[in-house]
Amino acid sequence: MACDIMVTGCRGQLGRDLVASFSADHSVRGVDLDELDIRDRERTLEAIRKADPGTVLHAAAYTDVDGCEGNRELAMAVNADGAENIALACRKVGARIVYYSTDYVFDGNADRPYTEDDQTNPQTVYGQSKLAGEQAVQNALDDYVILRIAWLYGRHGRNFVKTMIKLGFQQRRDRHGGREIAPLKVVDDQLGAPCWTMDIARQTRAVLSGRHTGLFHATSGGETSWYGLAQAIFAAMDIDVVVEACTSDEFPRPAPRPKRSTLSNQRLNEAGLNVMPDWKTPLETFLHEHSKEILCEL
Ligand SMILES: NC(=O)c1ccc[n+]([C@@H]2O[C@H](COP(=O)([O-])OP(=O)(O)OC[C@H]3O[C@@H](n4cnc5c(N)ncnc54)[C@H](OP(=O)(O)O)[C@@H]3O)[C@@H](O)[C@H]2O)c1
Repeated sequence: MACDIMVTGCRGQLGRDLVASFSADHSVRGVDLDELDIRDRERTLEAIRKADPGTVLHAAAYTDVDGCEGNRELAMAVNADGAENIALACRKVGARIVYYSTDYVFDGNADRPYTEDDQTNPQTVYGQSKLAGEQAVQNALDDYVILRIAWLYGRHGRNFVKTMIKLGFQQRRDRHGGREIAPLKVVDDQLGAPCWTMDIARQTRAVLSGRHTGLFHATSGGETSWYGLAQAIFAAMDIDVVVEACTSDEFPRPAPRPKRSTLSNQRLNEAGLNVMPDWKTPLETFLHEHSKEILCEL
């Protein structure tokens, strides 16, 4: 039976909130790796033919940035070839696609937020594979939406905000237990804009509400560092945590992180479509709504 919306990666961090948001007023079909491996072109074509969606929200990806660095073949197979398979299937059934891309398509060396017109220059395998996915979508379809998003957090899956909540409470427990506490060290030399997955769902709706097509940056307003984000989390939750700023050199990773990958939502603004708020307000709302549940998982 035909559905309005198909969500790939429906058990992922973003996918789960896309399903929750769109299910309120659309028929939604979610698929994930256990049911459909998007590397398999024939099965992907068949799954989309059967579901016959009006729009595919393509949120499935190999998102382990450090893992991608050591496994280029898998990264390209999922993030580039997989995106191409989804796009070709959309073309066959006449469905629209929303492809979620990333700030990692840029090198992170700019001294201002990147616009959609800026030159891409990915420095990681993950970034290269996601950019190849963008190009595959653009080659396969005229009617596409690409949303470049960044620094995601949400209720589901693993993310920085949930990790900080857990580490902050661990430190508090240690202090109350009379144990010696080590300051929480957080990187202060990488800048970006934290985005709540529910805001990305709202932004997706806004773009789909008209026949808007093309590549858009879709991140929260403002910018901060991971250290700034950690401080904002603890301030909003009113917990006293000893946090110390450090540099990326103190946390060497297989994949280099962009120094400043803040994006400007220039095209959404020009089209009157930008519904992304500044990063602090949604963070406070998210913590108000979800921090208790997250702590229950400790
Ligand atoms: N997280 C961020 O900060 C961020 C920033 C910018 C852009 N994005 C983009 O936003 C989208 C959603 O990210 P997310 O954080 O929600 O990712 P996520 O939580 O890792 O979810 C991705 C989902 O895709 C599934 N998947 C992996 N390989 C697959 C395959 N071969 N076939 C079908 N499904 C497969 C994963 O299954 P398994 O878990 O079983 O592997 C997972 O359920 C991705 O396109 C990502 O590149 C994310």
